[in-house]
Amino acid sequence: MKRKVTKAIFPVAGLGTRFLPATKSIPKEIMTLVDRPLIQYAIDEARAAGIKEFIFVTSRGKGALEDYFDHANELEATLKRAKKTSLLKTLQATNMDSGAIAYIRQHKALGLGHAVWCARRLIGDEPFAVILTDDVIAAEKPCLKQMVEAYAETGGNMVAAMEVPPAKASAYGVLDIGEDMRSIVKVKGMVEKPKPEEAPSNLAVIGRYILTPAVMENLNRMKAGAGGEIQLTDAIAQEITKSNNVYGYRFRGQRFDCGSKAGFLQATVAFGLARPELHDEFAEFLGEMTQIRKAAE
Ligand code: G1P
Repeated sequence: MKRKVTKAIFPVAGLGTRFLPATKSIPKEIMTLVDRPLIQYAIDEARAAGIKEFIFVTSRGKGALEDYFDHANELEATLKRAKKTSLLKTLQATNMDSGAIAYIRQHKALGLGHAVWCARRLIGDEPFAVILTDDVIAAEKPCLKQMVEAYAETGGNMVAAMEVPPAKASAYGVLDIGEDMRSIVKVKGMVEKPKPEEAPSNLAVIGRYILTPAVMENLNRMKAGAGGEIQLTDAIAQEITKSNNVYGYRFRGQRFDCGSKAGFLQATVAFGLARPELHDEFAEFLGEMTQIRKAAE
């Protein structure tokens, strides 16, 4: 029997230097797409996939992120008194159950693999999910839920995957494809940030994972890999040889790289247009902008 995945790790210790000066005082994960912090998108996706325990791997300067999950009792009371029911609902939907959240500190920025490993005692002997909040995925069925359903068939280790332009593959973990069953791919190799000529394919790892506790054990002994960092990709790749149970999952949905400014802006446009209350005005503005640009050319 495959065990249910009820725990998720959110590595949120990064400095967010690409968004300086904003990230001088706000954690990157609190930056907002329309009106919701990036972290809220990740939490909602995890909840939809059946996650009950949320483990944040944080670092210095992430206090605002921890505060974000406190219940805002005073604010709730004010909205209740003012009968602002819709806003009250929006606010209450962000409330987390007591004891559902844990924070672990990553003391040194040694890489994604190390960040995940910091949560080992809270994971114990269970399968677990990892969500990278920079990767925002708009999908009818949330990406992690799609993966949980696929995992019910395969078990083992599963990474979200997406075809990227070959010239961009070096920015990702890249899969060497074994058997290709369309949405599910058996993985026979995995390389973190390969040199362009060494990329085994253009099927890239995107920041959603379902992993076995064996990956945590591999991280116990993991040496630094690409970029001198301890890589999660390398710890997963070891399971290909040890257990032959690593799968890629081509998810249905649109992924935005909110770790880059261009990606963040694209996500803002897409999520803004998707809001019924903003759509018309925003679409009109974007139309005008395109015309103005054309005229200027
Ligand atoms: C991380 C992972 C990489 C993955 C990527 C997806 O890299 O190490 O394997 O492809 O996330 O966003 P990062 O973007 O943190 O350099």
